[in-house]
Amino acid sequence: MQKLIQWIDARLPIIDAYERHLSKYYAPKNFNVWYFFGSLSLLVLVNQLVTGIWLTMSYNPTAEGAFASVQYIMRDVQWGWLIRYLHSTGASAFFIVVYLHMFRGLMYGSYRKPRELVWIFGMTIYLCLMAEAFFGYLLPWGQMSYWGAQVIVNLFGAIPGIGNDLSLWIRGDYLISGITLNRFFALHVVAVPIILLALVVMHILALHEVGSNNPDGIEIKKNKDENGIPKDGIPFHPYYTVHDICAVAVFLFVFCAVVFFFPTLGGHFLETPNFEPSNPLKTPPHIEPVWYFTPFYAMLRAVHVNLFGLPGKFWGVVTMGAAIAILFVLPWLDRSPVKSIRYKGWLSKIFLLIFVISFCSLAYLGMVPPSPTHNTWGSIMTVLYFSYFILMPFYTRMEKTKPVPERVTG
Ligand code: HEM
Repeated sequence: MQKLIQWIDARLPIIDAYERHLSKYYAPKNFNVWYFFGSLSLLVLVNQLVTGIWLTMSYNPTAEGAFASVQYIMRDVQWGWLIRYLHSTGASAFFIVVYLHMFRGLMYGSYRKPRELVWIFGMTIYLCLMAEAFFGYLLPWGQMSYWGAQVIVNLFGAIPGIGNDLSLWIRGDYLISGITLNRFFALHVVAVPIILLALVVMHILALHEVGSNNPDGIEIKKNKDENGIPKDGIPFHPYYTVHDICAVAVFLFVFCAVVFFFPTLGGHFLETPNFEPSNPLKTPPHIEPVWYFTPFYAMLRAVHVNLFGLPGKFWGVVTMGAAIAILFVLPWLDRSPVKSIRYKGWLSKIFLLIFVISFCSLAYLGMVPPSPTHNTWGSIMTVLYFSYFILMPFYTRMEKTKPVPERVTG
């Protein structure tokens, strides 16, 4: 074995890579539970890839056969029901762990210098993940797959001038059809996963170049011992690999409980209208996206002003796009002298709370049918969501921060 490793290493530096990224990658010793969600995202990514490959073996990407092939997977393919539920539950689990992973970044200022690129790669992963989930959702060819895609593709029609041609180009037809299904299948199983994998590699390489942040927001590389090893660092392997296995066990416990006992999660993970085959002649009374898109969907519905001769729908789309785009520039909005929320002032804490409340409220408002009250709340929550970002350069500079210790705590 030793000889084989040496033989390979002389041709491909696997030992160097192992040391650089695992056994000699020094991670801060004060990671807390919020640091589990990076490894959990990797676990869910692998789950999606493996179950996706197996689903593709029995799925039929045609308008005539798609819905029936999913029924075939559920009833006749051996363990097909398990593969499908692992994949459908995995999609929601992906967004849960990624949202928590991003929130950790917001709390501890992990997006700040020198980790701006880690954050930007992360945000690009998030965009790809949304595209991946959207393309995948059309594939079961149920009522919500069909009408959800119809609504989202039509949003491109709001762009002045080119809008209608653009949605026609995306659909490849005048309405969502088998042609659309074919191209979404190609994008979902080949194109986007390749980009996603490449981005995840870049994300981790960029992180390992600068080193991990931690709950104190202290740069451990600034305090090294005589051997050049950070005094507050411990080797990622074996310490954090073993540590992360505990999180994997807890995660799998909850994940399996959903897969085996509540695979639809009351219509949130698999929506009830999607158990009916798609019907272009029957619009469902209430079209709503899956929970992870609802905050942005609520913003779309909340904005209905006609400005500069452009319709409300256009401004709704712009607001939705801006809500995601603003996250990309976060590293340059935060002007605080400290990184972690632990040492920031009360204004930063209040605004972070406002952000969480507005995001969760928008998620709820995007799920319920529109009404004048819901729309008013949607507008208020949209303003609060943006206030967290737009006011950040001011409140992070104005507030009084606490002194940051020399060495990591706890
Ligand atoms: C497929 C999705 C993703 C995977 C597999 C992934 C994986 C990881 C891993 C393994 C780490 C190191 C462990 C840790 O710090 O938790 C990490 C760190 C990080 N990730 Fe991600 N990530 C993903 C998505 C994202 C997204 C969407 C963002 C934000 C927009 C993001 C931002 C960050 C940041 C800022 C760090 C550094 C954290 C620190 O050092 O405090 N990641 N990621």
